[in-house]
Amino acid sequence: MSTSPKIYVAGHRGMVGSAIVRQLLAQGHSPENIVTRTHNELDLTDQSAVRNFFEKESPDQVYLAAAKVGGIHANNTYPAEFIYQNLMIEANVIDAAFQNGVKKLLFLGSSCIYPKLAEQPMREDALLTGILEPTNEPYAIAKIAGIKLCESYNRQYGQSHGVDYRSVMPTNLYGPGDNYHPENSHVIPALIRRFHEAKINNLSNVAIWGTGNPRREFLYVDDMAAASVYVMNLSKNHYEQQTKPMLSHINVGYGSDITVKELAILVSQTVGFQGAIEFDSSKPDGSPRKWMDSGKLNALGWQAHVNLEKGLAIAYEDFKKSN
Ligand SMILES: NC(=O)c1ccc[n+]([C@@H]2O[C@H](COP(=O)([O-])OP(=O)(O)OC[C@H]3O[C@@H](n4cnc5c(N)ncnc54)[C@H](OP(=O)(O)O)[C@@H]3O)[C@@H](O)[C@H]2O)c1
Repeated sequence: MSTSPKIYVAGHRGMVGSAIVRQLLAQGHSPENIVTRTHNELDLTDQSAVRNFFEKESPDQVYLAAAKVGGIHANNTYPAEFIYQNLMIEANVIDAAFQNGVKKLLFLGSSCIYPKLAEQPMREDALLTGILEPTNEPYAIAKIAGIKLCESYNRQYGQSHGVDYRSVMPTNLYGPGDNYHPENSHVIPALIRRFHEAKINNLSNVAIWGTGNPRREFLYVDDMAAASVYVMNLSKNHYEQQTKPMLSHINVGYGSDITVKELAILVSQTVGFQGAIEFDSSKPDGSPRKWMDSGKLNALGWQAHVNLEKGLAIAYEDFKKSN
């Protein structure tokens, strides 16, 4: 009989959830001990369906990588959907996990939980110290609620029921399974598409919004998945060396950032675009820098492995396959 835990990965068809499944399989978990449901099979905003699922499957561990996610435009246009669906997903999954005896759960958040003007690099204790970026405030509030749900269940049921629910906050992610939508994608998949299309159409130049000077941090998604499994499996004592009951989330970053200009050059080289890159400084730049302090995770013994050159090469292959 298998002794490996039964693990539910919520959001297994998403970029992060699918990387977590890959990571678990690579670490030797048997596929039959990994439980998944598509959105169609189980709508996580439906409380009774979620309760029935947990009663039936009774997993030992949960990775909560399901969320309603989107770019600035979607967040601005559908704020009610972003806050409602994410609060419901988190509340339903975390409570149903508790009601069904799940002791270990990992909640995936985002760097947007930190204040708009947080000191760089952003440390975990910047949480709730200032005003959030207005465009994704509803989403960020839901993600902060997810962290606080985990902490509150730990504080109330940690001693009595052995509950140990943790949270990780990734920086910008990229890699296989990314969204390459022409208008609605993050910076790396958007640049991959732009340079690829410019290459096949023999364009002489590509114009990029802004000065190219802002600095951003990027983490390859399989590194994120490896960090998630690492944090989930740390002993309680070890995890508690870097966290407090009411400051329990851990940042997951690459450790260094680069300018948008440097990134654009790297992507153009990866794609093989030979033309010129122009920066349209009449367009807005956004924040000058967004960089996470991953010191706690490093002190817990984890470091990113996949550099941008290598990660971008894999991402470009993935883009070509998905087109
Ligand atoms: N991508 C990034 O750069 C990044 C950075 C930082 C943090 N994160 C965090 O990582 C997590 C996962 O992000 P991702 O990039 O993997 O997103 P994704 O690719 O959009 O995946 C999200 C998954 O959740 C599922 N889902 C959404 N609503 C659901 C519902 N009501 N019931 C059941 N399933 C539902 C989606 O299924 P459908 O597609 O079928 O709806 C999808 O498979 C999120 O919490 C996000 O904040 C991502």
